[in-house]
Amino acid sequence: MISQKLIKEIIEEAVHAPSGDNSQPWRFEVRGNEIDIYNLVGRDATLFNFKNRGDFLAHGALIENIAIAAAHFGYKAEMVLFPEVGRNDHTATVRLEKAVEKKETGLFKAIRERATNRKIYQSYVLTEEEKEYIEGMKGEGGAEIRLVDNREDVNKLATIVSLNERLLLENKHIHDFLFSIIRWTDEEEKGKPGMHVKTLELAPPQRFAFRRFKSWKFVECANRIGASKFIAKENAKVYASSSAIGAIIMESDAPKDFMQAGRLLEHMWLTLTNRGLSLQPVTAVAYLAQRIKAGDVSELSAEHQELIKRADKETREILGIGDKTIAMVFRIGKADKPSGRAFKLGPDIRWSV
Ligand SMILES: Cc1cc2nc3c(=O)[nH]c(=O)nc-3n(C[C@H](O)[C@H](O)[C@H](O)COP(=O)(O)O)c2cc1C
Repeated sequence: MISQKLIKEIIEEAVHAPSGDNSQPWRFEVRGNEIDIYNLVGRDATLFNFKNRGDFLAHGALIENIAIAAAHFGYKAEMVLFPEVGRNDHTATVRLEKAVEKKETGLFKAIRERATNRKIYQSYVLTEEEKEYIEGMKGEGGAEIRLVDNREDVNKLATIVSLNERLLLENKHIHDFLFSIIRWTDEEEKGKPGMHVKTLELAPPQRFAFRRFKSWKFVECANRIGASKFIAKENAKVYASSSAIGAIIMESDAPKDFMQAGRLLEHMWLTLTNRGLSLQPVTAVAYLAQRIKAGDVSELSAEHQELIKRADKETREILGIGDKTIAMVFRIGKADKPSGRAFKLGPDIRWSV
């Protein structure tokens, strides 16, 4: 029988997974050797988290970490996704069984090293081996990775994903939510989900301006002289510094698919970490396109809907993915270490006999 101490240790590793806006939307119930995982619905209340898909992706990364940590300690993690019919907040049941032989993937130590890196990346061309290795990683249920690394396409995709910064400064809902989860000091960050301003990699003058942008009134004034477009252009340069921009794609868009995409994302991200490569998800526009496609446009202006639809169409053309579901868009490359690390909450675990 596996001890409570070891289960706790495995979960404490797993919660270092990425999550939209560092929302960490999970809690755990443990009975014997089984861990039930629940989504904290509503914690990541951004427009991007359409149908909780961002949450499911994060939960996928979380259970991938559980599988890696369990293997490290000599256990096998058997997963059942969405074990309760009609309950999408019960994302997985994981049963831990002693493994016949200990399998060390080398990814365990990367779990705590992995971090979102929003820096300007160094000029670095991925080797053929690196590209093949990354694109060769496959997830269950058909999740796969597509990369583009030629300059022209990287530059085009960099401009497309920078639409995010325009929306952030032109859409009050997106703006207000982001600023509600920004933590400005170490003190403010403690014990709460959310994003520390230092992880955004803003230069001192940008950080000063960013503080002023907290006020929607100020943003509206600044936009009259073109602030949102200027900032999107500056961010496109950061994104264009990447060695490659890619996506995780899937055949369909069920909650299970997003969980499998999350597993693949985490597996890839940990592998890249071990190889000295950095990653930043840049996925906001892809999620908004799914919202529009489903007819849920309530908070988006007609102009923004058009921009998002065009961005989605161009992304699909550049990546050559037709109608497949995009679970995540990301950029990768070589970079200095991030300036700060996201704060991770201790896990909420309920134990029963
Ligand atoms: C579904 C999902 C979407 C995300 N989208 C973005 C994004 O558009 N831009 C960004 O900079 N980071 C994005 N992130 C990264 C999170 O902000 C990051 O994981 C979180 O702040 C915790 O930081 P960490 O990854 O360093 O642990 C996303 C993460 C997930 C799981």
